[in-house]
Amino acid sequence: MPSLPIVNSESSDIEINLLLEAIYQKYGYDFRQYSEAHIRRRLTNRLMLSGLSSISEIQHNVLHDPVFASQLLQDLSITVTEMFRDPPFYKYIRENVIPILKTYSFIKIWHAGCSTGEEVYSMAILLKEEGLYERSTIYATDFNEFALDKAREGIYAAEIMKEYTSNYQQAGGKKSFSDYFIADYDMAIMDQSLKKRVVWANHNLVTDSVFAEMNMILCRNVLIYFNRDLQNRVQKLFFDSLTNGGILALGSKESLRFSTLEDHYQELDKKYRVFKKKY
Ligand SMILES: C[S@@+](CC[C@H](N)C(=O)[O-])C[C@H]1O[C@@H](n2cnc3c(N)ncnc32)[C@H](O)[C@@H]1O
Repeated sequence: MPSLPIVNSESSDIEINLLLEAIYQKYGYDFRQYSEAHIRRRLTNRLMLSGLSSISEIQHNVLHDPVFASQLLQDLSITVTEMFRDPPFYKYIRENVIPILKTYSFIKIWHAGCSTGEEVYSMAILLKEEGLYERSTIYATDFNEFALDKAREGIYAAEIMKEYTSNYQQAGGKKSFSDYFIADYDMAIMDQSLKKRVVWANHNLVTDSVFAEMNMILCRNVLIYFNRDLQNRVQKLFFDSLTNGGILALGSKESLRFSTLEDHYQELDKKYRVFKKKY
């Protein structure tokens, strides 16, 4: 059996730090405060796939081979997502947050770390069904340009639509999910109207700053990849980006527990980690 590459020794700690520094200096992507466990898992995976034997070799390739570098950047950003992911979360938003949003004349929503866009189309559908879409703007951001391109396109594999239909129904969908896309052979093309109120943009949560004042921010399954300091930095960014009374929806995997900002929010839901910024 081939021996597994070692990414657990003290020297590999040094190599990892140097690699992340090199990526930052050469490409401007800052993974230096991502969770150690996440970085180790992804690098181990890349070592096994590439046949390289050390992190230093990865570093050499990253610096001298743009294709390898682009591959590694993809490795470090996990883009797994779904439409109406965690359907009860969307049901909760529909039943408890939409009534709050209905009190606003204009609604700004930020999907931070939107990956390939499935969450964004889900939100557009939800807002349409609740009669809020035309007065909403959804800012959909990610730092992964490949994922954003796919999100802008809004074309997904037809075979996954069955699962998404089930998610949509469990999330309290009011129509037939097939009303929102056109099936074309093995593709499902999302209805153009769902893009009308969406602004897609490249935004890096680590290095970029506030860009608008939001009534609601959704950021699920992103902060789990960051270490505590970085989570706090991003929480501060969200806090500064929310209007008073604005909603922060983190989903069941993330928390505000260690954030110094916890006291500045009212917890609306424990399970789905939905908070309201205090006035
Ligand atoms: C696992 S996906 C989550 C997608 C979606 N929010 C969901 O819950 O289904 C994580 C996303 O966070 C993005 N991401 C990671 N680090 C980021 C950063 N520093 N700035 C912006 N986006 C980031 C990744 O590119 C990826 O698309």
